[in-house]
Amino acid sequence: MKALILSGGEGTRLRPITHTSAKQLVPVANKPILFYAIEAIKEAGIDNVGIIVGETENEIKSAIGDGSQWGIKATYIRQEAPLGLAHAVKIAEPFIKKESFVMFLGDNLIKDGIKSLVDEFIERKPNAQILLARVKDPQRFGVAELSGDKIVRLIEKPKDPPSDLALVGVYMFDKNIFEAVNNIKPSWRNELEITDAIQYMVDKGYDVQPHIINGWWKDTGKLEDMLEANRIILDTLTGRCDGFVDSDSHIIGKVVIEKGAEVINSIIRGPAIIGENTKIINSFIGPFTSVYFDVVIKNSEIEHSIILEKSSILDIHVRIEDSLIGKNVEVSKSPIKPKAYRFMLGDNSKVGVL
Ligand code: TTP
Repeated sequence: MKALILSGGEGTRLRPITHTSAKQLVPVANKPILFYAIEAIKEAGIDNVGIIVGETENEIKSAIGDGSQWGIKATYIRQEAPLGLAHAVKIAEPFIKKESFVMFLGDNLIKDGIKSLVDEFIERKPNAQILLARVKDPQRFGVAELSGDKIVRLIEKPKDPPSDLALVGVYMFDKNIFEAVNNIKPSWRNELEITDAIQYMVDKGYDVQPHIINGWWKDTGKLEDMLEANRIILDTLTGRCDGFVDSDSHIIGKVVIEKGAEVINSIIRGPAIIGENTKIINSFIGPFTSVYFDVVIKNSEIEHSIILEKSSILDIHVRIEDSLIGKNVEVSKSPIKPKAYRFMLGDNSKVGVL
């Protein structure tokens, strides 16, 4: 069995972060989302992994390399444009050949991993196995209509959903998926849709098994979902301190302080993680905050947020919340008169001021 991770795409819902970076490399609890997928695949006993890449190919390659860090062999497959999930499968055929494979969307997180699901697929040998989860807002997802335990119909983002069962971003296929992706036509948005490919298999009488998962799962394509994923994963960490905390600081609850980090005269209320060589000075870091490496936070308050590497937050006395702050960002009190907000913001940025 092989694996195919989809790590191309446009990431329009996470702009401006995705103007310059791959969304799959945004860290959740200080680990890129994509690494969770690789770990889940390896844990399921699969080590031959194809990775679909797009414009952010170089960034993804430098993060994963040959995969040996995880004991996998990574093969990169360039997708010239994000022409759909089924298009990604189509161009992966020379890599997959006639084997069965698990397809994993690189921005999805499944807390309990996929080992038992892969084992079930290997044992039952259907032509496809799709994962479904009950959601509150099925309009946002690919939705399945079942009759008993059989799939009748799959609909992409339905206005009037036939059920609350959304397709989770992990699928298992045997070689017959290639017949499907080679026969379907692009949708109205000019993408080859995986829902259409699976529907093709259903219509041709292939055995497509649904599997309803109960555990927590998240598609992190949007800011709120990214923050929720961060919240859930932070809650699973065990506190530890590999850095320095001075005697004037208070560490409360589950807090991870990584190597070389310094906490001076500050309060950190977990669950939270402070990355390598980051400095927290005279500040408050509230629950559900992940601060990546080489960050400086001074005279400021922040909670329920993700801060990427090499950024600084200086002298911001109003608490920052629910935020995703990119790399090398500087947020500081404006030192020059007249008193005014001064911004240099990329396209599609969002700022909330008081
Ligand atoms: P999506 O989140 O559905 O699409 P997207 O990344 O283009 O984001 P947005 O809707 O915000 O513009 O993609 C799910 C995953 O699959 C994600 O990791 C990107 C990847 N992907 C590809 O590799 N190739 C593709 O053609 C598409 C559409 C997605």
